[in-house]
Amino acid sequence: MLEKTRSESLPVELKYWPVKRYMDVYRKSLDDIEDFWEQEARKLEWFRTWDKVLEWDPPFAKWFPGGLINAAYLCVDRHLKTWRRNKVAMYWEGEGGEEKTLSYSQLYREVNRLACALQKIGVRDGDRIALYLPMIPELPIAMLASARIGAIHTVVFSGFSSMALADRINDTEAKVLITADGGYRRGKTIPLKEIADQALEHTPSIEKVIVVKRTGQQVKMKEGRDLWYHEIVEDAKEDVAPLPVESTHPLYILYTSGTTGKPKGIVHSTGGYLVFINSIYQWVFDIKEDSVYWCTADVGWVTGHSSIVYAPLMHGASIVVYEGAPDYPRPDRWWEIIEKYKVTIFYTSPTAIRMFMRYGEEWPKKHDLSSLTILGSVGEPINPEAWLWYFKHIGGERCPIVDTWWQTETGGIMISPAPGIGLVPLKPGSATFPLPGIDADVVDENGNPLPPGVRGYLVIKKPWPGMLMTLYKDPERYKQTYWSRFPGVYYTGDYCMKDEDGYFWLLGRADEVLKVAGHRLGTMELESAVISHPAVAEAAVIGKPHEIKGEGIVVFAILRQGYAPSEKLKEELREFMRKTIGPVATPDEIYFVSKLPKTRSGKIMRRVLRAVVSGMPVGDFASAAAKLIGLGFQGSITPETIA
Ligand code: WTA
Repeated sequence: MLEKTRSESLPVELKYWPVKRYMDVYRKSLDDIEDFWEQEARKLEWFRTWDKVLEWDPPFAKWFPGGLINAAYLCVDRHLKTWRRNKVAMYWEGEGGEEKTLSYSQLYREVNRLACALQKIGVRDGDRIALYLPMIPELPIAMLASARIGAIHTVVFSGFSSMALADRINDTEAKVLITADGGYRRGKTIPLKEIADQALEHTPSIEKVIVVKRTGQQVKMKEGRDLWYHEIVEDAKEDVAPLPVESTHPLYILYTSGTTGKPKGIVHSTGGYLVFINSIYQWVFDIKEDSVYWCTADVGWVTGHSSIVYAPLMHGASIVVYEGAPDYPRPDRWWEIIEKYKVTIFYTSPTAIRMFMRYGEEWPKKHDLSSLTILGSVGEPINPEAWLWYFKHIGGERCPIVDTWWQTETGGIMISPAPGIGLVPLKPGSATFPLPGIDADVVDENGNPLPPGVRGYLVIKKPWPGMLMTLYKDPERYKQTYWSRFPGVYYTGDYCMKDEDGYFWLLGRADEVLKVAGHRLGTMELESAVISHPAVAEAAVIGKPHEIKGEGIVVFAILRQGYAPSEKLKEELREFMRKTIGPVATPDEIYFVSKLPKTRSGKIMRRVLRAVVSGMPVGDFASAAAKLIGLGFQGSITPETIA
């Protein structure tokens, strides 16, 4: 397989480790995964070494049980003993152009002050804290302060609605909420505290609300419950010892969409998660202490957790955090930031690349992007056209692109080129190969491995340290969702295909999950939102290919008696979805229908709706084939290929 990688694949200058090194590491890693991950775990500082590498009681894994560790210590304190003490930990830039720079020692002070304040208001080991914050320095600081004292954070994306926030607070029974008066987006302010106040009417577990003053807008502060962030940290003392926690102590809970209406609380451990992301960010991004690392995701998603906060800070790199919209006030805002901070590693989504492609290459051309060494892509399949544009106009045909496949559940990257250990020849549209320690395969309906060129389901056959531990308060659903479709094997929910060189081609979700501009949304979650509108009796939601966002949202609704279809009602429904879930859930198209296609047992046949909307014959061969071609797949496409 690997030895005969195609010569026509992209000729990236191999200034990185040669392929053979990756192959050696990969093969060896799977011979004995426990031994392999144990060596990786030794790269971190532990307060106590583990008793065992892995306790595998399928499907529940405990990585490094008995080991004691602290995430804030690894991301911050550890650097204070080195020259990195006074180097930049974070370059922050506000949408309006304000700048703030925090060195590792300043970050240490900020994390400690908040940790101390949290302790003062009664936050203890194991308590949950909800964070509903814009992209400001206080967000990473709050995550690290939480980790420092053994609390468990749950970050709620600040573009989510009050209902989504309330659901997440209630599911975790969070004691404290940290939010801001407001946030900036495209020059306007978003009233975060006001939205949070609506949520707080339904969240009995919250005892205290800490409010960061960001925009200075008027907010209501509830006596006895609401506290200003700047006031509580003012007289907080600076030294709070990091609490050594069990390796399996949850570091965070992050909600993501699944195939039912209710989002899933993904629980990540501390030890296994940190070991995993420490290693993979070195392999994939070749990250070093002198890297300037910019991941453009929002910290509210898993990409932000691993790629903005935990991994780059563990490596002592300098992170860039930008608050605002990508093309505000002009389409070269991002390129200006790269030039200004001399970003070396840049990580973004295919949707963003497609958007910038549309603005044209004259915008990046205005800037010196020569500091860049590696470019990354994440969140959805990247089409070759966007890949090549990114390679040429952003990377100057010099930087390898790492197309990284992973999920909220996996904690970190699973399939990707790995220039840090050996760069394989790249093929635009393919995430190439699994990382060391990751036993990935493509199987058919019955779990049998498939030959090259046939589409099947992506599975992971061995546990890995970054894997989710469970779904919060719902171990049964964890078993059902991930480990029951193919017993003993982790089911990703993604379609995939290997080509004859063994390269992995990710082909989108195999379940009812949409990826809209890289954001993960469940069709059932969207449908239950539509149905909660008084005019709607029944609804079905599907995804439709979208030139920029990858997928767009299409709603079919049957109206209740007494309601008539109108443009006004469509607009109202659109607004309603924005309010119920958030702006990411705004439908692209709404159709009022009198009937929905259903199976005899009453299940909506979304595939029929999909075929109708894309003008394809009913049956999904044609649309799946179109997708394969769009991804640059060169083999022959037959009904068997996409079986
Ligand atoms: C999709 C994001 C193709 C996939 C880190 C997965 C990708 C889902 C890629 C997880 C990629 C992510 N190529 N598809 N490089 N990366 N996906 O949980 O469908 O928000 O299952 O995690 O995104 O989305 P999530």
